[in-house]
Amino acid sequence: MAGAGVFITGTDTSVGKTVVSAGWIRRGITHGLRVAAMKPVATGGVLREMHQLRSSDAEQLRAEINVEETWEELNPYVFPPPVSPNIAAERAGVTIEINRIVDGARALERRSDVVVVEGVGGWRVPLGADTSTVNLVRALGYPVVLVIGLRLGCINHALLTREAIDADGIPCLGWVANRLDPALEETEAVLATLVARLASPCLGVIPLLEACDIGQVARALRLPDLRGSPGV
Ligand SMILES: Nc1ncnc2c1ncn2[C@@H]1O[C@H](COP(=O)(O)OP(=O)(O)O)[C@@H](O)[C@H]1O
Ligand SMILES: [Mg+2]
Repeated sequence: MAGAGVFITGTDTSVGKTVVSAGWIRRGITHGLRVAAMKPVATGGVLREMHQLRSSDAEQLRAEINVEETWEELNPYVFPPPVSPNIAAERAGVTIEINRIVDGARALERRSDVVVVEGVGGWRVPLGADTSTVNLVRALGYPVVLVIGLRLGCINHALLTREAIDADGIPCLGWVANRLDPALEETEAVLATLVARLASPCLGVIPLLEACDIGQVARALRLPDLRGSPGV
C-alpha cells in the first residue's frame, strides 16, 4: 500500500532537518521500506557541472533514497540566493505552485512506501504573497515531525512552533532533539523540559556527530507508524 508521507519541519533553519530527514530515510530502508524524498523548495542553490543549479539538501537526500527520482521530482524549486523562499521566488519572477509540488508527491507515493519531505526554514515560512509552508503541508496531507536544534533559546522556539502546528490543525507525530551545539549547558534539563511541555512523543535524540554520520542518526531515530507504512 502506498501513500504515506511525513513532513520534517524545524525550530529554525540549520537545526538538523536535512540530517534527520536523511537518517529517517536510511532507517526506513534498513527496515525494508522503499523511501522517496522531496525538498520541495530550496534556496541557497549552488551551481554544479553543466551549469545545473542544485540544492545541497536535495543532494544529501538523493544520496539516501532507494527509489528512482528525477531532480525535478526531488526538488521542483531551487533558487540561488540564501533568503526566504517568497523573496527568492519573487526575485526570480517565479510563483511557487503548491499544486505542482503535490502532484510530484503523489507520483512518488505511487512507487514508494514513504515520502520524506524536508521543509524549508521553520514552520511559518512564506512561499509567496499568499502561500506558506502551512498551505503546502495541508495540501500534501502529511503529518509533521519537529526537529529541535538543542541550543540556547530552543525551548521557546520549540514550544512556539508546536503551538503554531496545533493552531494550524496539522497532526504532529512527535519531535526529534538534535544535540548540535557542544556549548549548550544543562542539556539533560533542557530535554526534560521539552518532554514535560511538548504534548507529543520524542522520536529520538541525535548525538553530536563527528563526521555527519547518517548511520548514527538512523540508529537514534524511532519511526512511528504512518498511513500504509509500519513504524520501525
Ligand atoms: N547532531 C549534529 N552534530 C554535528 N553537526 C550537526 C548535527 N546536526 C546537524 N549538524 C550540522 O549542522 C548543519 C545544519 O544541519 P542541517 O541538517 O543542514 O540543518 P537544516 O536542514 O535544518 O538547515 C550542517 O552542517 C550539519 O552537518
Ligand atoms: Mg536542510
